[in-house]
Amino acid sequence: MTKLIYERSRPGRRASSLPRYDLPTASVPSELARKSPPRLPEVAEPELVRHFTELASRNFGIDTGFYPLGSCTMKYNPRVNERLALIAGFRDLHPLQDEGGAQGALELMWRLQAILAEVAGLPAVSLQPAAGSQGELTGLMLFRAYFAARGESEQRREIVVPDTAHGTNPASVTMAGFQLVGVKTDPRGNIDVEDLRGKVGPQTAGLMLTNPSTLGLFDENIEEIERIFHGAGALMYYDGANLNAVCGISRPGDMGFDVVHINLHKTFSQPHGGGGPGGGPIAVRDILEPFLPVPAVIRNDDGSFGLDFDRPQSIGKVRAFTGPFGVFVRSYAFLRMWGDRLREMSEVAVLNANYMLARLKETYDLPFDRLCMHEFVVSAQTLKREHGTTALDVAKRLMDYSFHPPTVYFPLIVPEALMIEPTETEAKETLDAFCDALLAIAREAADEPELLKEAPHDRPVKRLDEVRAAKHPVVKYAFDEHPSADVGPSAVAAEAPKGV
Ligand SMILES: Cc1ncc(COP(=O)(O)O)c(C=O)c1O
Repeated sequence: MTKLIYERSRPGRRASSLPRYDLPTASVPSELARKSPPRLPEVAEPELVRHFTELASRNFGIDTGFYPLGSCTMKYNPRVNERLALIAGFRDLHPLQDEGGAQGALELMWRLQAILAEVAGLPAVSLQPAAGSQGELTGLMLFRAYFAARGESEQRREIVVPDTAHGTNPASVTMAGFQLVGVKTDPRGNIDVEDLRGKVGPQTAGLMLTNPSTLGLFDENIEEIERIFHGAGALMYYDGANLNAVCGISRPGDMGFDVVHINLHKTFSQPHGGGGPGGGPIAVRDILEPFLPVPAVIRNDDGSFGLDFDRPQSIGKVRAFTGPFGVFVRSYAFLRMWGDRLREMSEVAVLNANYMLARLKETYDLPFDRLCMHEFVVSAQTLKREHGTTALDVAKRLMDYSFHPPTVYFPLIVPEALMIEPTETEAKETLDAFCDALLAIAREAADEPELLKEAPHDRPVKRLDEVRAAKHPVVKYAFDEHPSADVGPSAVAAEAPKGV
């Protein structure tokens, strides 16, 4: 087992030996000064590099393998994006640089806004939100501002969210101060329109919908849904996490939506996962533009670019400065690379998903037997009933076949769900190898179910107790419990918090 970096520590070892500096020691106010030096691991440089390289080599990542995490759109990120994000003028730009000295960056943002407006089919864009979930919250804050300006904020309190929604949707509804109204899914995987009709009225502020949904299905009644909400004077929010399915093919604005967030880190490529970095710009219909966050990135009459703070009805800022700029550079590069072929990106993503679905649907249960969009949901329900093999067992065993598992147990309405999203960046051989692995696992479930219960077998970390990990997280190294260490600790254990 790999030792912790603290366990490799030996007093006095250093990663490099630089000449002693001869500058006077700065005087630190006593209330800010440390009482004792920080307890850092002391190791030589080769040990340090080997330690972290070894740890990194244990990780799954899109650069090392297929990562079919449904809804997360883990596509390969072209290296050219990184090269461009590292251009000194972009990389070293200070966020407080005056507008005259930041014309290139402002132009890039303005152009990105224009492309996103075109893709969304909605005229005005704010790049500020830093993630899809923050885009959701911002969009709902615009709903509030809009109804407040119309004197309807007391009346319109409810947001309708389908039972297939991502967890951030109901969370955003609550954070924005609205009340959540759930709506069911019908037997074809669409919103149940009859259920919906009884839930929309003068009290409704709007709908939040992911289309295609988290089942990977395009809602067949989207025009009727639009009539129901707009007919009741309510607004429509499009969760754009699944935009990878429809770019250049259909647009949220044309479907009738008033706001959409776009997960730049999914659809338009960014290395993401583990909490960042991300970008969740929103595009909105003209009636909502006055309420967008400030500053707006604009082009002035003389052709220069600037920041406009003069928006009296704005909801204010939702993030520092103008948003996550490095993310903008990568997405802009990615979008320009596809150019007017962007539609192909989505077409290939949808084709890849349907190819895999066709290979798997005889072996795994298919809850809604339709053509899918860029992702699909199958279920391990029969494997569970017949052999005791769960979706979790299948996912864990996939790691032995060197694949990152798909999303599991989501959406919540599908028992033993496996949600698979290949994206457009994978070769047919990779798709086949992944399907072969899933088919082989189904055979193993019949022949050797115990093998799957213990999986993974060939990874550095075996099956973890995920409930314990969630309920008793050990987030701090316990120095003082390990007196054997010369400098700090020699073992890993830390006491779990009590009573969680
Ligand atoms: C359907 C859906 N909506 C919203 C989100 C939230 O996006 P973000 O992770 O950028 O906050 C996700 C993220 O996984 C998602 O899959």
